[in-house]
Amino acid sequence: MVTSIRNGMPMLDTDGKPMHAHGAGIMEDNGYYYMFGEVRDGDKRVACYRSKDLMNWEFRNVVLRITSEKKPHYMRTDLDLVYHGKGVNIERPKVLYCEKTKQYVMWMHYENGVDYNAARCAIATCDTVDGDYVYRGSFNPVGNDARDCTLYKDKDGTAYFFASGRDNADMMVYRLSDDYMSVDEQVKALWAGQYREAPAVFEKNGKYYMLSSMCTGWNPNQGGSASSFGIEDRWSSISNFGDSVTFNSQPTAVVKFGEHYIYVADRWDPVDYNNSGYIFLPITIEDGACHIEWADEISFDVKTKTYSVFSIESEDYRIMANEFTAYLSSDGADVFTRPLSYKDESLIWNFWEKGNCYNIVHKATGKGLASDGTMRDISDKRSMLWTIEKCEDRVRIVNVESGKVFAVRGRRVMLASPDDKFGYCRIVRKY
Ligand code: DGJ
Repeated sequence: MVTSIRNGMPMLDTDGKPMHAHGAGIMEDNGYYYMFGEVRDGDKRVACYRSKDLMNWEFRNVVLRITSEKKPHYMRTDLDLVYHGKGVNIERPKVLYCEKTKQYVMWMHYENGVDYNAARCAIATCDTVDGDYVYRGSFNPVGNDARDCTLYKDKDGTAYFFASGRDNADMMVYRLSDDYMSVDEQVKALWAGQYREAPAVFEKNGKYYMLSSMCTGWNPNQGGSASSFGIEDRWSSISNFGDSVTFNSQPTAVVKFGEHYIYVADRWDPVDYNNSGYIFLPITIEDGACHIEWADEISFDVKTKTYSVFSIESEDYRIMANEFTAYLSSDGADVFTRPLSYKDESLIWNFWEKGNCYNIVHKATGKGLASDGTMRDISDKRSMLWTIEKCEDRVRIVNVESGKVFAVRGRRVMLASPDDKFGYCRIVRKY
């Protein structure tokens, strides 16, 4: 039994085995929370775990496999789960129970396992919540492409499918048929051209909320939240949710715990999928916008249906060099960019305050950033001191001696003139 979750880290199930349920959906059924999520191991594609307390997850079944039973559905669906000899990719599985048919119905994002060009949804069904689901095929909803997705069941039992469409440019909303097995009507195309993905939907006190992210592959970015008084009504514009990297997370679900709404997210490891972690953070709502604060740890009390959070103040940061896809690294002599990896300690920097400026210190080597863009021994020389100028959610790092700004073009680091458009970066606390 564990008594807390260490946010951002991989989790172990109650058998002590690594939990693989990424891009998860969570539903409540017969007194348990059931988590359905991606697993990429052999012929496994969707795993199911259950928990009473959101912390201790019991493995129940691999509910969908490449080798699962297949049964064609009346729509034109493609039953292939192997493409060019390789198992397909199944992402973001979500399950609803349909009272009308007494079936558990799973919707998911289907890709061919080679690239992301299929852009389809797929469905599977089962008589029991954690049984062996029957694959019913993949298809394009009303002919649209569909990638990141989620399901939502409204209070009257109407089910909706949300999926990024038009090559991720729009967030499409589909009302499902009353057996949850097909699209009844596309009711929305939200935030056209804003490229939102990773939707997670919940309702509180008669208002609906959708969390989502921008589209930057496996890299974290600025999350967003929006609200509406009805799934098919007008939705608000998107307001920022979390910090510029959503505390190194991407939304996947929101689960109710007592009177609290808990943000469930993935911390994808862009270089090691199976090292991806999980995040559970309490949501607060102010003026129609959702907010989260970082917490290193969270624990849930099933008796009182309350949670408690705990954080260790960290002085460690990563410096994101350009649009969400490259981070500053060093070998103690030079500075360059590398992809995000939570295991890569060469991405960690400290800022030693010296009055109203800083030494920028590479934690792993103890060297400081110098005015020529190389790394040198730390000193109070003006060439080793920098000011940090805030520019909305980005900063400009300016050398005190030269007045040059720290700029990164691709993998190249340089000191540029103050108006250089590459002279911005994001300083992100290491969570
Ligand atoms: C971001 C999505 O949210 C993930 O589910 C996955 O499809 C990655 N993109 C692939 O780059």
